[in-house]
Amino acid sequence: MNWHDACASEALAEEATIGVVIAGRPVALFRIGGTPYALHDLCPHGAARLSDGFVDGDCIECPLHQGLVDIRNGKPRGAPVSTPTESYPARERDGRIEVQLR
Ligand code: FES
Repeated sequence: MNWHDACASEALAEEATIGVVIAGRPVALFRIGGTPYALHDLCPHGAARLSDGFVDGDCIECPLHQGLVDIRNGKPRGAPVSTPTESYPARERDGRIEVQLR
C-alpha cells in the first residue's frame, strides 16, 4: 500500500473538513486534536459528502440527515447512519497530509 499526497498541512486546520480525490477515490480529510484522519467521502446512508458535513467533537455530522460518523474510525455513531464508513490511515510528513488507500 502506498501513501498518497492529499494536501498541504496548513490547509487542514483543526476541526476542518476537506474533500479531495485521490487515485479516483473521494476522500474526506479531518484534523482532531492535531491528528489528521481520512474517511471515504460518501455517507453510508445516502448520497452526501461527509466533507460537506459539520464536525461535532470526534464525529462528522452528515449534512443531509444529520447522521453521525466517528472521524477516527468510520464507525456509525448516530442514526440514521448504521453501517461503517471506510477509514484510511492518514499521516503528516514534511508539511503534507498523506493518505494510505487499500
Ligand atoms: S445521507 Fe447521510 S445521514 Fe442520510
